[in-house]
Amino acid sequence: MKVALVGPTGVLGRALVPLLMAKGFTVRLLARSAEKARRLFPEVAEVVEIDLLAATVGELASALQGCEAVAHIATAIPRDASAPDAWVANTRLRTEGVRKLLDASLQAEVKRYLQQSITMAYADHGDEWISEDAPLDTAPGRAQVCGPVISMEGMVRDAPLEKLGWCILRGGSFVGKDTFQDDTIEGLRLGRTTVPCDGSNYVSFIHVDDMAAAFVAALERDPAGAVFNIVAEPLRQGDYLDRLAGSIGAPRPMRDASTPCPPSWRCSNQAARNKLSWQPRHSVIP
Ligand SMILES: NC(=O)c1ccc[n+]([C@@H]2O[C@H](COP(=O)([O-])OP(=O)(O)OC[C@H]3O[C@@H](n4cnc5c(N)ncnc54)[C@H](OP(=O)(O)O)[C@@H]3O)[C@@H](O)[C@H]2O)c1
Repeated sequence: MKVALVGPTGVLGRALVPLLMAKGFTVRLLARSAEKARRLFPEVAEVVEIDLLAATVGELASALQGCEAVAHIATAIPRDASAPDAWVANTRLRTEGVRKLLDASLQAEVKRYLQQSITMAYADHGDEWISEDAPLDTAPGRAQVCGPVISMEGMVRDAPLEKLGWCILRGGSFVGKDTFQDDTIEGLRLGRTTVPCDGSNYVSFIHVDDMAAAFVAALERDPAGAVFNIVAEPLRQGDYLDRLAGSIGAPRPMRDASTPCPPSWRCSNQAARNKLSWQPRHSVIP
């Protein structure tokens, strides 16, 4: 099966491309920089330079010709989330980028569409488990992040399933090579990382290699019209940071009661275990 990847040069792509190839898929890379894609993946024959935001639907459809499946894994998460216009590019990738890619997929008669999404778009559920039927967060205070995710998933769900077998994979916070976990480890080592509030909120992490494996499982199992949480066993944030500190020999981080309590996301991966025969295999503590 030939699979097109949109945004293959990021953290997830670097785990997913080699795994797809090892599993016998043919990969076509739709990358913003062909030079970067070729440097990262010299073994991939098909590389198309295309910017999801600049391309027309027709250009995207040409880039998808001959592919049976496409996965949208492009993102532009800002390094400084508070900077003016920080979220503009990411929002556009999740809204007009998705609209164009869906239209192009239909035009090119691609049969399967995989959309990467995020479990961080759920509302705070405290100690309650979160399954995929829980609504995404519509609170005005979280509109900047959750609004585009809600639009994105809505557009995917509205695609005609008989033509485009879509599947949405809601990933937890990534851990593993080159993820935000590197910054957390550095902060713990320097004694700068503190546990917000009392650390009792749940965090649902996923190792990027397990996230990549979920994409492969979705391509192999073809669960058209399904949404999955792709997460490891959730941990309380305080326990996670204590264990992470312990693993590198750093002191236990201080609790900072003055910081607001983060939302708690105790996401269940039961549906992915049942329907994709997938399970997380990597520890979230390196
Ligand atoms: N990081 C997390 O904790 C996390 C958790 C759950 C889900 N996710 C989701 O997982 C997916 C992959 O995340 P990641 O961590 O791998 O992201 P990443 O490392 O930032 O990579 C993003 C990719 O998107 C590409 N891209 C950016 N703007 C583009 C554009 N206009 N047109 C085409 N491609 C563009 C980037 O290309 P360049 O290399 O040229 O910049 C890169 O290949 C995203 O959907 C993200 O929302 C992330």
